Amino acid sequence: MIRKIVDGVYNVGAIDWERTLFDEIVDLPQGTSYNAYIIMGDEKIALIDTVELEKVDQLLSNLEELGIERIDYIVSNHAEQDHSGSIPILLEKYPMAKVVTNAKCKEFEKDLLHIDDDKFIVIKEGETLDLGGKTLRFVMTPWVHWPETMATFLIEDKIAFTCDFFGSHAATTHTFAEQYDRIYHEAKRYYAEIMMPFRQIIVRNIKKIEELAPAIIAPSHGPVYSNPEFIINAYKEWISEETKNEVLIAYVSMHGSTKKMVDYLVDSLARRNVQVKVRDLIHSNLGEIAIDLVDVTTIIIATPTMLAGPHPSAVYLAYIVNALKPKAKVIGIMGSYGWGGRTVDILKANLGALRVEILEPLLVKGLPKKEDYERIEEFAEMIAEKHRKLGVMK
Ligand code: FEO
Repeated sequence: MIRKIVDGVYNVGAIDWERTLFDEIVDLPQGTSYNAYIIMGDEKIALIDTVELEKVDQLLSNLEELGIERIDYIVSNHAEQDHSGSIPILLEKYPMAKVVTNAKCKEFEKDLLHIDDDKFIVIKEGETLDLGGKTLRFVMTPWVHWPETMATFLIEDKIAFTCDFFGSHAATTHTFAEQYDRIYHEAKRYYAEIMMPFRQIIVRNIKKIEELAPAIIAPSHGPVYSNPEFIINAYKEWISEETKNEVLIAYVSMHGSTKKMVDYLVDSLARRNVQVKVRDLIHSNLGEIAIDLVDVTTIIIATPTMLAGPHPSAVYLAYIVNALKPKAKVIGIMGSYGWGGRTVDILKANLGALRVEILEPLLVKGLPKKEDYERIEEFAEMIAEKHRKLGVMK
């Protein structure tokens, strides 16, 4: 399926309706797409990014349908294989083509794809490439989400091709974003799972893209934005230091004691006008938990003690939270135990990368008793007080 962006610019990438998992961890409830853009200048033809290797047939048939007999440049914004994986096939089909990218991306692609050194043209920040009436300018946007990531700006049409940056995992026949609620959710999921660890550096990269004053942002996943402010403003909200008056309670309970503590804490917080999201770690979708993490102020990990430590699913969550580095300000650990163990130490050891306040843990022996519920009440008041002091709750 070929999708026209403007005259001489087409999305010839692939739609992947069936894919349910990325990186063997990121769930794709809406599938995904690998956008690749052909740009037809008066003299030269460039392709921006390619597609996952297993979808190369879609790309090749789109190029054939568009009547593309020659590609001069394959611009590679990012070396990850969902965008670069088909470059070797394209170089076989279009042997005169050169891969245009930055020095770091070239090194990655030599390692990942075994592309020969003489196939590359290496460009730097701000350099341009004239296609004849259409001019590409290269903008380095490192760490969205690999060190070599860059964007390509088509000057005459004001289109910013940003690859993963501003992308969403969404298989859709819509060329441009139209179903805004759905796209907001999928773009937020993408941000949470892929971009959130690089929140600080995204501040600088957003500024660079804004300075281009793009009329269109064309990422390499999901629909294209003909109103770039929609996705730029969404990113600004997500990367800001502001958090919401919300607590995420992620719990696992084996025999119901920890669940009773969680239920009581939910009521105690709600009575204090603190909003709560509850996720059962065994049955919840990790992507939805990641979305929750984007703007909550407090994260509570609730786990029973098992084999002298936390339940493994709680350790997994702590590891994920530590890696995603959300902007939450407070973390609490709670749960029921039978006869001791190192639950708190093990969870804390997995949260070391976060700059958060870790509350005094709330551990209960066995099924919670009357005095334990009083401690949960105090725990809720302590969280509410933190939210008031942080200014997220009036
Ligand atoms: Fe869509 Fe980082 O690859």
